[in-house]
Amino acid sequence: NAGKNSISVVIAGGGSTYTPEIILMLLANLDRLPLRCIKLYDNDGERQGKLASAVKILIEERDPSIEFVATTDPKIAYTDVDFCLAHIRVGQLPMRELDEKIPLKYGVVGQETCGPGGLAYGLRSIPGVIENIDYMEKYSPNCWMLNYSNPAAIVAEACRRLRPHSRVINICDMPIGLEDSFARILGFKSRKQLDYRYFGLNHFGWYTSVKDPDGNELLPKLVEHELKYGNTMPGESMDDYTDHTWYDTALKVKDIVSLDPSMAPNSYLQYYLFPDDMVAHSDPQYTRANMVMDGREKRVFGECARIAEAGTAEGTSLRIGIHAEFIVDLATALAFNTHERMLLIVPNNGAIENFDPKAMVEIPCIVGKDGYEPLSIGTIPTFQKGLMYEQVCVEKLVVDAYEQHSYLKMLQAMSLSKTVPSANVAKKILDELIVANEGYWPELH
Ligand code: NAD
Ligand code: LMR
Repeated sequence: NAGKNSISVVIAGGGSTYTPEIILMLLANLDRLPLRCIKLYDNDGERQGKLASAVKILIEERDPSIEFVATTDPKIAYTDVDFCLAHIRVGQLPMRELDEKIPLKYGVVGQETCGPGGLAYGLRSIPGVIENIDYMEKYSPNCWMLNYSNPAAIVAEACRRLRPHSRVINICDMPIGLEDSFARILGFKSRKQLDYRYFGLNHFGWYTSVKDPDGNELLPKLVEHELKYGNTMPGESMDDYTDHTWYDTALKVKDIVSLDPSMAPNSYLQYYLFPDDMVAHSDPQYTRANMVMDGREKRVFGECARIAEAGTAEGTSLRIGIHAEFIVDLATALAFNTHERMLLIVPNNGAIENFDPKAMVEIPCIVGKDGYEPLSIGTIPTFQKGLMYEQVCVEKLVVDAYEQHSYLKMLQAMSLSKTVPSANVAKKILDELIVANEGYWPELH
């Protein structure tokens, strides 16, 4: 693979629970994205170290010609790289736990990217992502950053405002999960057999068209199914899903789609349209962060320790991140000018005609060597536009709060969020989040 077109990548947030599955995905796609070097970079060397020995073995066993580096030194990490795959979590999972639990104390949605917890995470993430962009520009000015650090919508707005000329593309794997469900519902083997039209913000949008390879519109058939079963299949139960939250989410699509049966919604809209149901179904003592720490984190770190101990990855239970395939698709499109159509989070700039040109929107784009070209969406209906405008203003206010160190802007963001019932509640949650985020947030005044 050490040919002249072969590529060097750095994974920022090397200690992420997703790192091993991304590595396996890269190793499974060397025929279309040949690699000469894979680096892991994290600012927590101890955490990254727990995965690095196993990753080294995975790479050596697949292709020993690929150089492997794990480092906490930004200069080593970012020198001579073509792509940075960024999935950092500033504050790690214990801070996610607080993001989820503090709002729930006040009866408000406690979620990683939605509601006050998502806004708190946004204020933490911005400096971490910007810091990584600056390292990239300093040491490898031609590198592209494919950034899927959450909360993607706020992070993307911060990139637009603070680093407008940087080679950063913000992406999300949520649409891949939805499109997998659509393919299953419509009887196709792969989401890639279908063509989609979609508009919205990250974790906040709608599919307006799903076409088969002959160009036939299947959206009405999809919506008919969703109105009956959501995104579950008839006869399915909780046991068919990794855990009950994913089953509940797939089922809840039934309620979301009934608000506008002309489009297939992103399931994250459940948090904005049915916050009362979401809170009623949450355990304020045991949230998604706890599930991830007791589940994915233990499993991934445990298996990496086993591989390191055994000195081989033979018979490993680690699996390729199927969702992560879109990262290879995107890198391949940029490296080899494939002109693939992909959903990206980009400045609206007129693509949605009746929406803020300076909003970061999630829309289909054609991707090639020079970056992306967004497709034109046209006008969107009042219901969707109203929801999106409220939410995009919340996201913009968080970036204002970051830039101006403004308590008032953060309070306005929390008060405007559709998930928060009153400014009284917003203030109580904000004041608690400020204490919890000491050392991560700028000092607000
Ligand atoms: P994790 O806590 O397991 O790992 C994140 C790593 O980032 C940690 O090792 C941490 O030390 C590191 N980190 C934090 N700040 C950093 C900095 N400034 N520089 C370098 N490294 C830093 O988190 P996870 O659950 O694996 O998730 C990782 C990220 O990916 C999160 O932001 C998550 O929300 C996001 N994610 C996004 C998608 C998507 O498609 N958009 C899908 C899944 C996960
Ligand atoms: C995460 O990064 O952990 C979430 O996006 C998905 C989950 O497992 O809650």
